[in-house]
Amino acid sequence: MSLALRPMELADLDDVMQVETAGYSIPWSASVMKGCIRMGYDAWVGQVDEVIRSHAIIQIMVDEAHLLNLCVHPAFQGRGYGKAMLEHIIERAQELGAHRMILEVRPSNKGAIKLYYALGFERIGVRKGYYPGPEQREDAWVLSLYL
Ligand SMILES: CC(C)(COP(=O)(O)OP(=O)(O)OC[C@H]1O[C@@H](n2cnc3c(N)ncnc32)[C@H](O)[C@@H]1OP(=O)(O)O)[C@@H](O)C(=O)NCCC(=O)NCCS
Repeated sequence: MSLALRPMELADLDDVMQVETAGYSIPWSASVMKGCIRMGYDAWVGQVDEVIRSHAIIQIMVDEAHLLNLCVHPAFQGRGYGKAMLEHIIERAQELGAHRMILEVRPSNKGAIKLYYALGFERIGVRKGYYPGPEQREDAWVLSLYL
């Protein structure tokens, strides 16, 4: 079953939040997600059998794309959907004039890091205490891909 990609709309918010809350231990709030759509960030959903199972959001700043969110519902992970969404969002960033994509990832998120490295991202830095955590804040690795 392939992932059907289309732009995210405000009407998708509840469905996207179901994926978001299932996918992350510390998910975005609905208002943050809504803000991204309202701000006109490039936001996409991926549907399987017409149900939203994945989303991704990039913010373009001049010639740099910042990958703000990439998520696949846990029940649908490991089927190539994350890779398909990431490849799509990389193409979009190119279309929108970006020359580089930047993202932050938890060093503990080994699956995501493997995916990013597989598509050519490289680690360029560390942001100390970037992420909230249950007990203490966690660093972020900053990864970059030239487009
Ligand atoms: C990271 C995430 C988007 C990957 O999505 P996915 O659909 O499971 O990934 P895919 O099936 O497309 O995997 C593609 C490649 O990524 C790597 N990968 C993804 N998840 C992995 C895991 N749990 N363990 C090891 N490698 C993994 C593998 O290299 C895989 O290729 P392979 O199957 O040929 O070995 C998904 O796990 C997710 O949404 N996680 C929760 C949210 C999150 O952490 N997002 C990233 C924030 S920076």
